[in-house]
Amino acid sequence: MSKRIPVELLRLLCDRQIHSGEEIGRLLGISRAAIWKQVQKIEELGFGVVSLKGQGYQLVDTVDLFDKEELSHRIHECHGLFCEVFDEIDSTNSELMRRIQSGSGSLDCCVISEMQTAGRGRRGREWVSPFAQNLYFSIPWVFEDGLVALEGLSLAIGVAVVESLHEIGCHEISVKWPNDILYKNRKLAGILVEVVGEPAGRCNVVMGVGLNVHKYMNASGVIDQPWVALDEILGGICSRTDILLQILRHLVPSIRMFETEGFEPFLHRWNQFDSYQGKEVMVQVGNEVVFGCVAGVDHSGELLLETPNGVKRFTSGEVSLRLDL
Ligand code: BTN
Repeated sequence: MSKRIPVELLRLLCDRQIHSGEEIGRLLGISRAAIWKQVQKIEELGFGVVSLKGQGYQLVDTVDLFDKEELSHRIHECHGLFCEVFDEIDSTNSELMRRIQSGSGSLDCCVISEMQTAGRGRRGREWVSPFAQNLYFSIPWVFEDGLVALEGLSLAIGVAVVESLHEIGCHEISVKWPNDILYKNRKLAGILVEVVGEPAGRCNVVMGVGLNVHKYMNASGVIDQPWVALDEILGGICSRTDILLQILRHLVPSIRMFETEGFEPFLHRWNQFDSYQGKEVMVQVGNEVVFGCVAGVDHSGELLLETPNGVKRFTSGEVSLRLDL
């Protein structure tokens, strides 16, 4: 079976009309056997195709494909950013990290993919990344002032994503330290920031965002926590292109602002959007568990926890609500 994603056939079937084998073969220049293999591949990706005897093939599900040219054009026009759109990649973050480490390949463009075969979450977790369902993108950036100046960056990205979604009517979206984006306690998006560079000098940073847009039929059981997709929240089908442009509209100026002013301008907004503010939680760092009440984050994005032994600060850790109270 061909490993390539049959995007041309998907694009043709996208209108959900019946297309005969003869028409498909003629338009795509492939044999009947190749069509059949591609149909199977489309089904493996999670989209139903009916084969109607003597008539042809028809896509059962809607597919929200990117139009690569249009997307690149609009991103460049709106944000001055170049972008590369892949049908499939291991991970958009890994792609940019490889370019940084090898010193080859373009580092002035945002990498977007229809799917990731090895999407990565925080703490080495998998980020489930099915085809054409969600957003998976990474932005490279060079910061000149060392690692300390990057404190709070992932939180600032969270603020930008939340504000971009509030603006399109997704209220009740909140952040959870350090960089989860939640809707009513269900995970909507995650941020993965990776850095290569000098502790006190120039740093190459990769900022990856994964956001659930369409509710993927086959994902239950694969994702090990409660999650939600944008079209469930908005009560209709969203366009991934529009959502991506909307996020970049907030994200790109926010990164520029962070570059010059650091986390300070985001601090108040982050605390305002924090779903766990004032809540009793437990924070796990390695094998240690600390109980306390969330008192927001400080100027460098560290979590402040009021405990019976005073305020404790965290630079890393897993926060969860105390359900035993
Ligand atoms: C998390 O919440 O654990 C972070 C998830 C980050 C996922 C995004 S999807 C685009 C980019 N590429 C990856 O492999 N991961 C990030």
